[in-house]
Amino acid sequence: MESHRLLIKNIRQLVQVTANNDQMFLRGEEASQIQANSEIANRNSLENIEKIVDANGGVVLPGLVDGHSHPVFAGDRVHEFAMKLAGATYAEVQAAGGGIHFTTAATRKASEEELYRDFEKVSRQMLSAGTTTLEAKSGYGLETETEMKMLRVLDKLSKNSPLEISATFCGAHAVPRTTNEDDQTKAVAGEMLDAIIKAKSNGELQCVENIDVFCEKGNFGVENTERILKAGEKAGLHANFHAEELNCLNSAEMGARIGARAMSHLEKVSPEGIKMMAASGTVAVLLPSTAFILRLEAPPARELLKAGVIVALGSDFNPNAWCPVMPQIMHMACIVMKMSIPEVLAAATINSAHSIGRGKTHGALHKGRVGDLLLLNVPKWEHLVYRSTTPYDNTITHVFKLGKLAFEAHK
Ligand code: NIG
Ligand code: FE
Repeated sequence: MESHRLLIKNIRQLVQVTANNDQMFLRGEEASQIQANSEIANRNSLENIEKIVDANGGVVLPGLVDGHSHPVFAGDRVHEFAMKLAGATYAEVQAAGGGIHFTTAATRKASEEELYRDFEKVSRQMLSAGTTTLEAKSGYGLETETEMKMLRVLDKLSKNSPLEISATFCGAHAVPRTTNEDDQTKAVAGEMLDAIIKAKSNGELQCVENIDVFCEKGNFGVENTERILKAGEKAGLHANFHAEELNCLNSAEMGARIGARAMSHLEKVSPEGIKMMAASGTVAVLLPSTAFILRLEAPPARELLKAGVIVALGSDFNPNAWCPVMPQIMHMACIVMKMSIPEVLAAATINSAHSIGRGKTHGALHKGRVGDLLLLNVPKWEHLVYRSTTPYDNTITHVFKLGKLAFEAHK
């Protein structure tokens, strides 16, 4: 998308997130000191301005960055929601052929157009709820053809829509029931990765940046996870993987050791894993909706923050956890994980941007950074989290991507 020169007037409060433009993330105490200005200098010259918007005394803050999602899939799993409410665990449902396997079967059958159409609807909902940049995974193909189909859908949407996407290859999301962990590891790190890298180098796929593995009992163990991540890194992708969700396998220690850029979930992370993540600078992408929906013990956000780990947030939007709305995720993070309102803003802006290598350019408002911003019709920015804003409720009146209008609420 091209950029656009935009002037916003009558701003009551401008939330820059950080006062220091060199900062790429906020951790520890810094994450509770969000920079919000109410003294806003007027710009004298209107030269080169292409659009003027009247904020009517509203609040401006950076576009939200969703650090973890699985938004391309066919169908739903509403029947499994009922099973889980009746007592089945996530692992039991998957072991019986449901969960990721159920969605994989549907996604393999679906056409690229169908997948695109469904994702397009969700992407509009995401934008209207303030998400301007999204980490988005493949992982419901588990073989080359469907993984490529999913990545093409992500690529196409990122070209056609204002939503910016950092795509993640997740061919190691589960072990298909027709094979075993070692063979699937070889296939992911071999044939599938080769196909993706080839498509990336000939320009057929552009937005694939990261590699992910669901490291979990019954899926991929720590050793195979490391193999896949290293193969991905060798091919130029960044390690950003599912760690320590249902069982502690000490995968956080491994991720920190290999310098992974990000790890998600971490409900069961060990004290040693936390220490090592603080030292390696690996971002912890926490997913409050998943812990909530699966009734898991919440990830130890307070311990992670206290240890100086960089904490980000993601919606984890997927057929197991159907919530693409980041303000609700932020609200949930306060309640379920005991984070403060400033901490969740840092986590959903500059820190999640850092988890996908954009901490220098996204997630804060400063000269030289992208013009991704939200305009809110509220007295102060904290209302975004307090109200657990839903799309189209008119709290977010405008969303801009690179200075261009991406969403406007009906008056
Ligand atoms: O992050 N945990 C693994 N992957 C997803 C769930 C995907 C699914 O159940 O379809 C997650 O929660
Ligand atoms: Fe996930």
